[in-house]
Amino acid sequence: MQPSHKKPHNARTTPNATTTEYRGEAGQPRLAIVTGGTRGIGAALSARLAKLGYRVIAVYRTSGGAAEGTGVLPVQCDISDPQAVAAFADQVLDEHGTPAVLVNNAGINIDRPFLELTGADWQRVIDTNLSGPFHLIKAFAPAMLAAGAGNIVNIGATTGIRPRSNGVNYAASKAGLLQLTKCLATELAPAIRVNCLIPGMTETDELITRFRLDDPEHRAAVLAEIPQRRIGSPDDIADALEFLVSAHSSYLTGQKLIVDGGQFMW
Ligand SMILES: NC(=O)c1ccc[n+]([C@@H]2O[C@H](COP(=O)([O-])OP(=O)(O)OC[C@H]3O[C@@H](n4cnc5c(N)ncnc54)[C@H](OP(=O)(O)O)[C@@H]3O)[C@@H](O)[C@H]2O)c1
Repeated sequence: MQPSHKKPHNARTTPNATTTEYRGEAGQPRLAIVTGGTRGIGAALSARLAKLGYRVIAVYRTSGGAAEGTGVLPVQCDISDPQAVAAFADQVLDEHGTPAVLVNNAGINIDRPFLELTGADWQRVIDTNLSGPFHLIKAFAPAMLAAGAGNIVNIGATTGIRPRSNGVNYAASKAGLLQLTKCLATELAPAIRVNCLIPGMTETDELITRFRLDDPEHRAAVLAEIPQRRIGSPDDIADALEFLVSAHSSYLTGQKLIVDGGQFMW
């Protein structure tokens, strides 16, 4: 006997990832939320989901203007503030309905040697990178479960697996996010899939500044460590997101997908 909520495996139909997959029951575009969705990698993720036919809400803290003319709806919310997230979620659920996709992309770095790192530096990064996704998933998972479907993608970092100096707060936050992903993939299954999409070095203003990639010597040294011999683009990450939200990955949950040109091979 098949459990009633599961299709027999031979009943699987070929997923049509460009039409019905992205549409609600009544043919309405489905809703997607991307935190940090107006800038950097998040802007590419928002744009890709919009191109796929989603209505996209791009959560921002300060850069709402960056969404102008992109077709996504910018909404201000500081994801590190649980009350702000609760108010945001109430507003979204009331005015827009249940999201089909939640991408927890917003993240910050405050990199310093451990002995110089303050408690406030630690807390701010944990509050944003780890507690932010926790508050958002808490707020939206009940509605997704009630709808019987949902897709959560947490944007991790290779530092969450492989340690580096001068960023213990960031590394711990991203390691925690990976474990949050796996635990929730278990608890929220089978209705909700939860995966961790891990960018390698990806060309954003933040990364160029932090790793001094506008210096040709620094750039050459970094490229020497990447088998694909290029820094990733935000669109490379959007390509992987497209796979993770499509029916082509319907049997994939609790996983980390590392998009880093082969720099680290775990
Ligand atoms: N770029 C890389 O090479 C790389 C590599 C590995 C992982 N990642 C991860 O990928 C994600 C995006 O990185 P990125 O390079 O695109 O970073 P970014 O350009 O610095 O953008 C960060 C985004 O997060 C938002 N944000 C920060 N704190 C927030 C808060 N409290 N509430 C709401 N939004 C907040 C920012 O919004 P505002 O501008 O409005 O403040 C901005 O949109 C991050 O999670 C990062 O850790 C990036």
